Amino acid sequence: MKLLSSDLLAMKGATPISMLTAYTCPVARCVETAGVAVILVGDTVGMVEMGFESTRDVTMEHIEYHVGAVRRGAPNTHIIGDLPYQADKDPDTALVNANRLIAAGADSVKLEGAKVDVIRHLVSHGIPVVGHTGLTPQTAKSFKKVGNTSSEAEKVKQEARKIQQAGAFMLVLEHIPHALAGQITQELLIPTIGIGAGSECDGQVLVINDALGLGVDWPPFSKQFVHISETITKVARDYREEVEGKAFPRNLSQLIGAQGS
Ligand code: KIV
Repeated sequence: MKLLSSDLLAMKGATPISMLTAYTCPVARCVETAGVAVILVGDTVGMVEMGFESTRDVTMEHIEYHVGAVRRGAPNTHIIGDLPYQADKDPDTALVNANRLIAAGADSVKLEGAKVDVIRHLVSHGIPVVGHTGLTPQTAKSFKKVGNTSSEAEKVKQEARKIQQAGAFMLVLEHIPHALAGQITQELLIPTIGIGAGSECDGQVLVINDALGLGVDWPPFSKQFVHISETITKVARDYREEVEGKAFPRNLSQLIGAQGS
């Protein structure tokens, strides 16, 4: 059953929330089959799938395309569509773009930073909003942990409070000290979803390519549950060798013949 924003809100402090990113239909199908609570169609797609250096290169059209593909693979899962860089630059622009993502298949939208006016505007038009603070890659100068100094930590806390007050129903905390994430999680009434923010958050999000070990390097706070890049390389090499040695498709027809089909 698809979780609504109110269901996710009610999970705070009761049931840890699992969230994975997905960008394609077959991967979304697997994520839904596995029972993951929420899929984030994040603008990380630009870096992990499209080869861009930054999420700033991602456009509305990219996210719409991926939200549509993910929705077709995961019809019964709550999908968050990420508003790309500048798509939320003012309340009216954000509303137009949020509605585009909802029309493409998203249940809610996520945006980076304490953009209070934007969040209020979207929520007042019935769009469920997920906030995002700590490391916010669209505007960050580096991918370093945020909140190590007391002034930085206070800024992250203030942003978290403002995002909640503006009406967001959930908050992503990215790459901040674990103790700080714990304090924010204790204080807020909305669920916090951590990525590189420790285990005290109400849920966790991981970029699917990082979890799959698909790529060449991964953030230090991510976990590779497998190393799919190695499997893909092996399949491609085996295939090339079989084609060059004239084994494929001959061995395929032998196999089909042996199976009697
Ligand atoms: O775009 C994304 O995938 C994200 C996660 C890293 C939280 O924002």
